[in-house]
Amino acid sequence: MSAVSTIAATRWVRWPEAHTLADGTESPASGTARIAYGADYNPEQWPEEVWAEDMRLMREAGVNIVSVGIFSWALLQPTIDSWDFGWLDRALDLLHANGIAVDLATATASPPPWLTEAHPEVLPVNRLGETIWPGGRQQWRPTSPVFRRYALALVEKMAMRYADHPALAMWHISNELGCHNVYDYSGDAAAAFRDWLASRYGSLVELNRAWGTAFWSQNYSSWSQILPPRLAATHPNPTQQLDFARFSSDALKGYLIAEREILRQATPEVPVTTNFMVMGETRGMDYPDWAAEVDLVSNDHYLLVADPQAFEELSFSANLTGQIANRAPWFLMEHSTSAVNWQPVNQAKSPGQLRRDSLTHVAHGADAVCFFQWRQSLAGAEKFHSAMLPHAGEDSSVFRSVARFGSELAGLAAVAGSRTRQARIGILFDWDSWWASELDSHPTELLRYKTEAMAWYTAALANGLQADIVPARSVLHGPGLDGYDLVIAPMLYVVTDALTDALTGYVGSGGHLVVGVFSGIADADDHIHPGGYPGAFRELLGVRAEEFGGLLAGQTVGLSGQVPDGSTGSLLTHDVTVQPDVDVLARFDDGPFPGVPAVTGRSVGAGRASFVATVPDTATLVALVGRFAADAGIASPLPADVRGTVQLAVRETETLEYLFYINHSAQAVTVALTPADGRLAAVDLGGSTLAADSLTLPATGVAVLSRERTGA
Ligand code: GAL
Repeated sequence: MSAVSTIAATRWVRWPEAHTLADGTESPASGTARIAYGADYNPEQWPEEVWAEDMRLMREAGVNIVSVGIFSWALLQPTIDSWDFGWLDRALDLLHANGIAVDLATATASPPPWLTEAHPEVLPVNRLGETIWPGGRQQWRPTSPVFRRYALALVEKMAMRYADHPALAMWHISNELGCHNVYDYSGDAAAAFRDWLASRYGSLVELNRAWGTAFWSQNYSSWSQILPPRLAATHPNPTQQLDFARFSSDALKGYLIAEREILRQATPEVPVTTNFMVMGETRGMDYPDWAAEVDLVSNDHYLLVADPQAFEELSFSANLTGQIANRAPWFLMEHSTSAVNWQPVNQAKSPGQLRRDSLTHVAHGADAVCFFQWRQSLAGAEKFHSAMLPHAGEDSSVFRSVARFGSELAGLAAVAGSRTRQARIGILFDWDSWWASELDSHPTELLRYKTEAMAWYTAALANGLQADIVPARSVLHGPGLDGYDLVIAPMLYVVTDALTDALTGYVGSGGHLVVGVFSGIADADDHIHPGGYPGAFRELLGVRAEEFGGLLAGQTVGLSGQVPDGSTGSLLTHDVTVQPDVDVLARFDDGPFPGVPAVTGRSVGAGRASFVATVPDTATLVALVGRFAADAGIASPLPADVRGTVQLAVRETETLEYLFYINHSAQAVTVALTPADGRLAAVDLGGSTLAADSLTLPATGVAVLSRERTGA
């Protein structure tokens, strides 16, 4: 993990110059504002006769960009020494003649069979030492010099051949780097891991200190003894595991940089991106650390149908992606029009969901809405995955929704380029803590990092409040916490002294900080902050605990005090003692530490520092977030009866604000508007009704309204 700034995303798609299309009409000028709309387009799956129909239907649907070539290596380089770009030339020319821009992939995501036959040493190896064989996709080692040689030669060819192609609007490096191959335990990985460790620690003495190898006879006397954390007799060294997670993210980032350098050399004016996977439990890649390496942030997001909080998770991920992009516009590279094919049970999206999901991304800063994929496959592993043009053809509800939404997005062009408004609540999110807090041999295996962060975010939404998911690294290496009145640190397990100082300074200057359970426990080497829990925050919070009281699955403890009747905590508790100036908001009724403080608050300077020493049930957490927000002077802009049902997210320009009212329930909802909302104008109602004093949203409806910014 490097300590460089995370500021990113200053460039945008280079739209092609205006030109005359095949049908004699003119394409829009390159500077014309628009939201990108399209999909992965894999024309190589189809006979070329089908391409003409693709063009007709793409135009009908309002598609203005497609990603091409993502999995085309084996067709572009059929053998080790032959190339065939003819079909791709024709596809790009056809797209250009139809006014559709191209996000051109470097085609390196999936190596062809000839490569893995000639060089099986590029194949990844799992922690058991088993080779991951070809037959699927993305079977390559991020650290393989041989893979790099072949892949970068392909990138070079692509860059040279298409540098001047008029349709080229953006480069798309590989695909979802790390998907399926983030953790490779091969010999190449071992060698690269040693180099990475040598540059992190400088000496074996320092590495031995950081890894705590004095215990269990693990002291290393030579670099060659160090391995990735392969299957071991018992728990592998935790710092070795944490460093391996950091290294694996860096190894992929290094590969990204290698491809990018070739592209920048050939086409400095064409932006470069790679599709991140800020979604669900995908955690291998530290994207806030990668963001500075791309010209614009793009993301893929899929809903998990079995997740009862699928909408909130989408909102969380879109929000986090927007923060990773520093609140500048970002590119939604993939999501689905309807069902996916890779979950145990795959459900079609309900009517209106395509629109709602897409606009929820736009509300959080996406200036592109793209899907996997354009035309649904008839063969291969993804034939049951939905697409813009489904098996049923153009006479289908999905295609009609796609086309309707395409024309709607064209009407939202004015929103393009606006930034998401900074919320007043920031929820810190940290990859180091995600990795380290869920290692084995902890007080409980039941605490899950993302679940905790999600719980706090959902509780903010339930209060009708907007919260930003703020990458913790941006506190020290990015924009910092200016503008946030309330900062929540859920399960911020890894805390450096510098971060403690920054958060202490934030509170001292009037900020309100809430620290969740299992925070402040360890430093960047995963060494405990000694003296009692939550170590790094003990002094600031004025609390001290000596023990963790883990609770079994399903076990709860009662909470009473300034919390709703019937409040409970679960998973973890502490034997908290407090300093005299600390207010006890709630105590444990029972459990391992009855009578002990469970929720505390303390005024420090102009600010306040609060601690929640357990995992509160949902209603209690909602009440606590409401209280912490009120203490920080933050009120919901939404009427009480729609909070938790409607999310209000705002984008803004210098003069205007765009308000996205998102109904994530399956019932129609009426939002009472106050006189202060009176200046609202409809931008895109999509079936909602705007009256002088109310906005009625249909089930899963989204309305986009605008008004002048106060003072503008
Ligand atoms: C993504 C991947 C696409 C496609 C999609 C299906 O992870 O980038 O190629 O497989 O999932 O949901």
